[in-house]
Amino acid sequence: MKILVTGGTGYIGSHTAVELQNKGYEVLILDNLSNSTADVADKIGLITGKKPDFENVDLCDKASLHGYFRKNKDIEAVIHFAAFKAVGESVEKPLMYYMNNVTGMINLLDEMLKNNIANIVYSSSCTVYGEADKLPVSEESPVKKAESPYGFTKQIGEQMLTDISKVNDFHSVILRYFNPAGAHDSSLIGELPSGIPNNLVPYITQTAIGKREVLTVNGNDYDTPDGTNIRDYIHVVDLAKAHISALERMLSKKSEEKSEIFNLGTGRGNSVMEVINAFEEATGIKVNYRIGPRRSGDVVSIYSDTERANKILGWKAERDLKNMMLTSWNWQKAIN
Ligand code: NAD
Ligand code: UFG
Repeated sequence: MKILVTGGTGYIGSHTAVELQNKGYEVLILDNLSNSTADVADKIGLITGKKPDFENVDLCDKASLHGYFRKNKDIEAVIHFAAFKAVGESVEKPLMYYMNNVTGMINLLDEMLKNNIANIVYSSSCTVYGEADKLPVSEESPVKKAESPYGFTKQIGEQMLTDISKVNDFHSVILRYFNPAGAHDSSLIGELPSGIPNNLVPYITQTAIGKREVLTVNGNDYDTPDGTNIRDYIHVVDLAKAHISALERMLSKKSEEKSEIFNLGTGRGNSVMEVINAFEEATGIKVNYRIGPRRSGDVVSIYSDTERANKILGWKAERDLKNMMLTSWNWQKAIN
């Protein structure tokens, strides 16, 4: 069965492509390499024994995308990862984010409808909940006004899918990721942050290896046990496996609604300091850090209610923070 993975040479897409191939699916990857490299497809081949079909196509290039769908028939479903994802950058360059994430997705959905491809799994984010009133957050928690253009593009994507499902024979699964971390056990694929990382875990590993001098902890005066922000870190391989569960539920027509939403987290919240400590314990390496001011736009605490994904998808995150730290560190050493 052919599955198209947009953004498949990226961080989460590449790990998902591996899990798909391990399950016997035929994977087609479409990516414009704006935040990844073509050799990731070779690495997926090394891990799984089969290189997926890869094409450099930009979702915003309507003509190329049309040509791609004309050429590639019998696609059963799409897993849509391709997007820009840096929150801060989206505040600086909002139009770039709306163009890429919204226009790209509109073009994709248009081609899917024209080619009678009726199944999509969509990468959303817990950022849609903003500062939640109640923790843990369940899928019923209200979606708050987006705090960044990036967050808004995720909300628009969700809304487009639910609207389209109402009037078409079209099925979608919206997956709201919490904080992905870690890398594949082979250390052949992982996250490739370009420039200075925004995210905590790549910043920790780059500091530990000496690429960055010091990690700044963004505030320790929050209303949390140790004063630092709390997030739900989830291993990227666990996250990848959830896509297979979501896809199979949709393809086997078990979904109760034409558009379903699932949170993907572990249900555990860890503070910034706990993550630093977990890294030090897992690797035996001290991280040079200092306490800095709060970062604007950060929510204080968020972690997931996992019941719906556990019960309905039959999926549960298996790996712990220590494994996330170890695999991220092995990956950092491999790419250094
Ligand atoms: P990533 O940047 O590693 O992967 C995205 C891939 O999409 C890249 O390979 C990039 O080259 C490609 N791409 C971007 N725009 C494209 C376009 N117009 N046409 C074709 N390809 C394009 O990011 P990731 O961490 O793997 O994230 C995947 C998805 O998950 C994104 O939609 C992101 O918003 C979402 N998400 C990520 C996180 C996170 O923290 N990593 C959290 C929540 C949601
Ligand atoms: N942090 C630091 N120092 C750093 C980097 C981060 O203290 O150098 C802190 C942040 O202030 C925050 C925590 O570490 O308290 C996690 O920050 P990240 O930037 O790693 O992750 P976010 O929770 O801000 O956001 C991430 C992705 C978003 C996505 C969201 C939810 O960047 O795209 O998870 O999935 F929407």
